[in-house]
Formats: sequence, C-alpha cells, structure tokens
Amino acid sequence: MAPMAAKAVINLDAIAANVHTLRARAGSGAAFMAVVKANGYGHGAVPVARAAIAAGAGWLGVAQVSEALEVVRGIGGLPDGVRLMTWIFGPNGHLREAALAGLDLGVSTPGQVEAAALAARAAGVPLRLHLKIDSGLGRAGAPPFAGQFEALVRAALGFEAEGSVRVVGVWSHFARADEPGHPSIQAQADAFAGGVALAERLGARLEVRHIANSAAVLTRPDLAYDLVRPGLAMYGLSPIPDLATAAELDLVPAMTLEASLATVKRLPPGHGVSYGHLYTVPDDIGEQGTVTGTVPLGYGDGIFRSASNRAPVQVGGRWLKIAGRVCMDQFVVDLGPAAPERAGDRVVLFGPGLGGEPTAQDWAEAAGTISYEITTRLPLHVPREYVGGGAARL
Ligand SMILES: Cc1ncc(COP(=O)(O)O)c(C=O)c1O
Repeated sequence: MAPMAAKAVINLDAIAANVHTLRARAGSGAAFMAVVKANGYGHGAVPVARAAIAAGAGWLGVAQVSEALEVVRGIGGLPDGVRLMTWIFGPNGHLREAALAGLDLGVSTPGQVEAAALAARAAGVPLRLHLKIDSGLGRAGAPPFAGQFEALVRAALGFEAEGSVRVVGVWSHFARADEPGHPSIQAQADAFAGGVALAERLGARLEVRHIANSAAVLTRPDLAYDLVRPGLAMYGLSPIPDLATAAELDLVPAMTLEASLATVKRLPPGHGVSYGHLYTVPDDIGEQGTVTGTVPLGYGDGIFRSASNRAPVQVGGRWLKIAGRVCMDQFVVDLGPAAPERAGDRVVLFGPGLGGEPTAQDWAEAAGTISYEITTRLPLHVPREYVGGGAARL
C-alpha cells in the first residue's frame, strides 16, 4: 500500500525525558506506572511502554484486560520486575488469561473479586488485586458510604485466605486534580487515607497505595504514596494548561502530526472554501486572489470537525489557520497571495512547539476539547514514525 501523505512522528526521547522529570517530581519513594491505555494516548502503547520501561517505569497501566494482553504480547512478555495493571472488565473479562499473563487487576465490587477468584482458581495462578476505593470521583470503585468499601476489602481478604487472590494494593482516582487547591482534592486524599487504614486494619498487607495521576504528581507530590500513575504528562502535555504550559512544567510533547500538501491552486477574491463556505477568500486580497492548499487529513483521520476555521497549522514557518470546514479526508489552508508552496510541501498541524509550530494544546483550544482527546483520537491508520534513542530498540 502506498504510504499516506501524513504521519505522526513520535519522539521516544521525549517520553524518556518526561518519565525522568515525573519520577523526580514524585520522589524516590514512589514507583512509576506508565499509563499506556488507548494505544498510549494515540502514541502507540507498545513503543511507549518499551521507552518508559527503559526510562525506569516499573509498572504499566491500561484500562482493559484485552489491551493489557496486547501490550504483553507486543513487548514480548513483561520484563522481570515489571508489572502491568488493568482495571476495566465486564462479566466475560478474559480474567483467566489475565491470571495466566501475571497481570495485576483493579477491582471495584465484591462481584468482581469473586469473578477474579474463580478465574484465578481455574488458571491455577493467584490474581493480584488492587482494591479501588471511590474516594469521591463517583465513577468506579467502592465508596466508603454504607460500608461498601469495607465489603470489598472483606470479600477480597476472604478469597485471599483460600489462596486464589492476593490483595496487593488500594487505589483511587481524582475528580479534580487539574484544579489545584480545589477542596475535593484534600477530601479525596482523606477518604483514600481512611480506606488504606481500614484495609490494613482488616488484615491487608499492601505493597502499593496509589492515587496520583499527572496533575496530582505535578501539583500534589505529597500524595505520590508508593506509586504514581501519570498518563498525559508522560506524553509531554500539560494537565493544567490554564496554569502552566508543558514547557513551564519541563515536559516535552512527544507527538508531531504532519502532512504534505496534496494540491495547491489559486482562488479569486470572494470565492467560498469547503462545505458550507464557512470561509471566503477576502474580497480585498487583490485581483491575483490567494493560494490555497489541501491538507490530506480530515475527521476520518481524527481531525476534529469542531476545529473548522479555527485550528492553526504551520506551513513554511508561517502560522496559518484552517480555512473553512474540516471534511472527512482533508481540509484547506489559505496560504496567502504570495505563497511559494507547492504540492508535497510540509504542513505541521501540531508538535512540541519548539520550532514555533502549534501544539496539541492549541488544537484542543481550537476544537473545544482537551489535549488528551487530540492525540488519543488519532486512528491506527495514520502512520506512526518513531524517532529518538528508544526507536532503535523497537
Ligand atoms: C485510573 C487512571 N489512572 C491514571 C490515569 C492517568 O491520568 P492522566 O492522563 O490525567 O495522568 C487515568 C487516565 O485517565 C486513569 O483512568
């Protein structure tokens, strides 16, 4: 198949540098879980996992058991001393395979504990469980309310006594860690501490207690406990963009999304551009009109339609905006009346920002979303090219 005229370049040195920065921030007492769910936030779970492990991550984290099994396969088995935790599964959750693969499992209900115990028994390998307390997010996890977390702990310790599971962790997740100082953060930290104390009082011998995502590692390193679980910041993006840029946090964005101009042509003043003619070539541009170029990426390739007429791109060192609607496979850029560009010339949608190009955060603002979604929505068919020291080991 001919290569697509667009690619995402992933800098594995940036991933490694961000792991080092975040580990230093969390302090020496905390191990590091590289969160590589959703295909490594679009960067590629397997290459990122390898780069993160090489940079000192002792843990990997993904949402679904199926993703976890793919990552284990992709990296050729978990290296000695590296653990992989997964936390979303339904009734037919591949738990037997999870046990056989030596995965760590996050559980939220006594029913999930029982399913894990039955699967582990069938596999003949105990499953390592992390009991999730809903300390305030109101999503997964057992809340302390009405004895639900206590029931989870008791169920898990019951199965531990018969040997089918081992209770190794208590964990939780913040609702508003990206709003430093919000009272819910301390309230959740207190509820988490209460849950840990309860589990230990009931007999749990915990290896790890963990609650900190990217924003918490950066703004509340005192809550790093034994293990931190950063995702976004490891990819070099700021989880608190209103307060600090990636550069201000010493993070290096790892993804550059670029394309080649597919076609270049001239349009007269007043000419409409793309569906709905949301953009028109300015009437006062002069009778020579303007030069427009088509960029071969559209919403079928993860480009947000809500970024129509708004998102920035860099062409020939100039910062331009999308002209008109983002279509399924392409969008248009008004290159200006004197543009020297030709078909095949490079367009950078976003990158680290170090060469003046827009960033994923700029795209998030233009599209009315968060940078998480900008990189994560990039589908598998957009080629990834890996650069940096770690790429040699792929
Ligand atoms: C349970 C859990 N831990 C950690 C993370 C990493 O979060 P972030 O990317 O904000 O660091 C996520 C991602 O949403 C998550 O669901």
